[in-house]
Formats: sequence, structure tokens, C-alpha cells
Amino acid sequence: MTDSMAKVIAIANHKGGVAKTATTHNLGAALASLGKRVLMVDLDAQGNLSQNTGFEETDQSLATALEGGELPVFNIRENLDIVPSDLELDYADEHLRNAGVTGYRKLGQVLESQKDNYDFVLLDCPPSVKGMIVSNALIASDSVLVPVVPEKGAIKGLAGIFRLMEDCVQLNDKLTIEGIVFTRVKGNTALHNFYTEQIKEEYGEVKIFNTSIRESISVSEAGTMDMDIFQHSPKSNGAEDHLALAKEILKNTSDN
Ligand SMILES: Nc1ncnc2c1ncn2[C@@H]1O[C@H](COP(=O)(O)OP(=O)(O)OP(=O)(O)O)[C@@H](O)[C@H]1O
Ligand SMILES: [Mg+2]
Repeated sequence: MTDSMAKVIAIANHKGGVAKTATTHNLGAALASLGKRVLMVDLDAQGNLSQNTGFEETDQSLATALEGGELPVFNIRENLDIVPSDLELDYADEHLRNAGVTGYRKLGQVLESQKDNYDFVLLDCPPSVKGMIVSNALIASDSVLVPVVPEKGAIKGLAGIFRLMEDCVQLNDKLTIEGIVFTRVKGNTALHNFYTEQIKEEYGEVKIFNTSIRESISVSEAGTMDMDIFQHSPKSNGAEDHLALAKEILKNTSDN
């Protein structure tokens, strides 16, 4: 990665509802507020990130580009852009599947022309490891950020995304784990420590962010009101946590 090229981070975990979309949106907004140029890409046909940023209906989406057209990039606010998606992405998945090995590299090719324009490209992945889209995301990325809700069963569920990463390294040998971030955390540091130990036992040394994202009504409210956490409630725990996460990621990035 050169200084002028964006770092591409996939936000992925095949478990549903672990705050992939909320993390993408609020981390994107935090990095933007710190002066970084950020492109968020909605890789989920459910289109939650698009809806939460005000792109409820659009006839231009990522699918257009994956099928050979122009990449539609929309500005949300200063330093923060989005490529939206909707159900059309399911058809694009099919299209990629029929394209052989080039179908695995298509997202990377599509994003290449954008890399000079941004410091970070954040890919909001769907809760799946089976389709072409998550493979495309991991092959297009420098690193993977894995949100985990620290609760029973969460650790075993990580095997799916780690296995897919191992497969994708064959087509993208620069891929690394950005880290695991605990999200929707209701407990205290004891819980953080317990799950940190569990992850180490199961997967060895993998970076776990010091920052945890606490469960906070403001985070879910912000999403439903088409706002990021800083627009909705800049003094909330959610704003504080996502800003701290962004700073840790900036530190990770400058250390490497
Ligand atoms: N820190 C938080 N506090 C409270 N609610 C949260 C928090 N983070 C996310 N949520 C809520 O939890 C739900 C799931 O979050 P989100 O949609 O971001 O997860 P996801 O992993 O993207 O889900 P999917 O797998 O369906 O794509 C949403 O209703 C969201 O508003
Ligand atoms: Mg989501």
C-alpha cells in the first residue's frame, strides 16, 4: 500500500446481526470526521447500509458496475461517499459465478480506479460465506475487520469467516486480519477478558481491539433515522466508542 492509495477493509462475519452495517457506517463517519476520505460500499442485497444513509431507492447501484457498467458513487457528507446496493446485487452474484476465476476479482477491478481518491474503502459484507460477493470482498481487501457480539456461540461462528479468508489468500496474498471488535457489548471488562481468552484458545494470536462498542439505543436509533451516530447523538457512548475504534485503526495502519 502506498500513501496515496486507499486501504480497503472488509467488515465481515457470516453471523447475522453482529453490527457489520452499523460498524461500517459509524466507523466510516468517524474516519471522515478525522479528516480521512472514506468510501463505503454496500455489499449486501438487503441494502441496509444504503437505506441507513438515505439511499432507499436508486436505479444506480454496485450491481451496475459488477455487470460491466459505471460505478455509481454518491456523496453523503464531507469526506464520506457511498456505493449503494439493492436486490439487484443477487443477480450480479449470479453473473459473477458464471464468469469463472475473473468473477472472483471483479470487485477489486471495479474499486481499483477509486483507490487514489480515498484513504479508506470500507466494504459492508452480507451475513454469508457462500456467495461470490464475500469472496470478492476478501480478494479486493487489504484486511478484514470482524465484529463479534460476545455471547455464547460467537467464537465457534468465527470459523466460517477465517476459513474463507484462508481460501481467498490464494487469490490475494496481502490479506490480513485487521482485528476482532466486540460489538453490542452489554457487560463489562470481565466479559471482554473472558471472550478474548476464548478467541486466543481457539484461534491463536489474533488482534482484538481494545475498544469495544457498547450496546446503546442511540446506535440503533441512528440507523433507523438515516443518520450516523455522530449526526444523531455526538455525545453518546456509541459516538465515543466508534471514534475510539477509528483512532485504533489509524494507529494500526500507521504502525504497519
Ligand atoms: N452498539 C449497538 N447498540 C444497539 N444496537 C445496535 C448496536 N449495533 C447494532 N445495533 C442494532 O443491531 C441490529 C443489527 O445491526 P446491523 O444491521 O449493523 O448488523 P449486521 O451484522 O449488519 O446484520 P446483517 O447480518 O443482517 O447484515 C440493528 O438493528 C442495529 O441497529
Ligand atoms: Mg448488515
